[in-house]
Amino acid sequence: MRTPLMAGNWKMNKTAGQAVHLVQDLAELIKGVKDVEVVVCPPFTALKSISTVIELDRLAIKLGAQDMYWEEKGAFTGEISPIMLKDLRVDYVIVGHSERRQYFGETDETVNKKVRSALDHELIPIVCVGETLEEREREETNIVVEKQIAGGLAGLDPFEVEKLVIAYEPIWAIGTGATATPEVANDVIRHIRAIIGSQFTPPVAKRIRILYGGSVTPENIDDLMDEPDIDGVLVGGASLDAEKFARIVRFGEHQA
Ligand code: PGA
Repeated sequence: MRTPLMAGNWKMNKTAGQAVHLVQDLAELIKGVKDVEVVVCPPFTALKSISTVIELDRLAIKLGAQDMYWEEKGAFTGEISPIMLKDLRVDYVIVGHSERRQYFGETDETVNKKVRSALDHELIPIVCVGETLEEREREETNIVVEKQIAGGLAGLDPFEVEKLVIAYEPIWAIGTGATATPEVANDVIRHIRAIIGSQFTPPVAKRIRILYGGSVTPENIDDLMDEPDIDGVLVGGASLDAEKFARIVRFGEHQA
């Protein structure tokens, strides 16, 4: 009932030319995969070329951006607006990634503005939440994600919330090789579903897709996708390798 979503976050990697090769290689390797939504999130500078390839070659891959600003246009040097993303046929946008929270001052308030703006422009936000190692050790994981969700999704209607995607990405597992065990990931994701159920409505909690992210590889994807509450993954490092990401995508198909 919830279509698995396998998303690659390429972060600050790949020139436009390299990005085109990667998406073409990936498309070849996942030919015939059904009932899984596959999304790649290249840097802004590669969106245009990838969008063109997806359209011309009719690839079954959707395009996502890694961030956006909430205003439509104006004097905001260096920023990219939702209108600009729509113009390039972007469907998804990652919002509140921990690297943006950590290095670029993203807060739950700015996440909320971006989420609202994305939904207003028919972009699907992938809203990232997750705790630091210290927070986990202090057993504050649930409180931290509750606060991030309450703030990030403040003021939304239930029908808007069921359209968006949440990615649970424990910060200690990102790019470290230390994946959360499937059970730990599923526990937090189940808790996130419960939060959505009480902050919005139980049917929304049932329908919303919640991903896991943090050192996902072809080796651990099987067990992660076996968990009942994990609807897909947000993959960093392993998504830069077409063969690895294709193997990950194929496990989404098993789950569908
Ligand atoms: P990783 O990154 O797969 O390299 O750990 C995940 C992410 O940051 O989205």
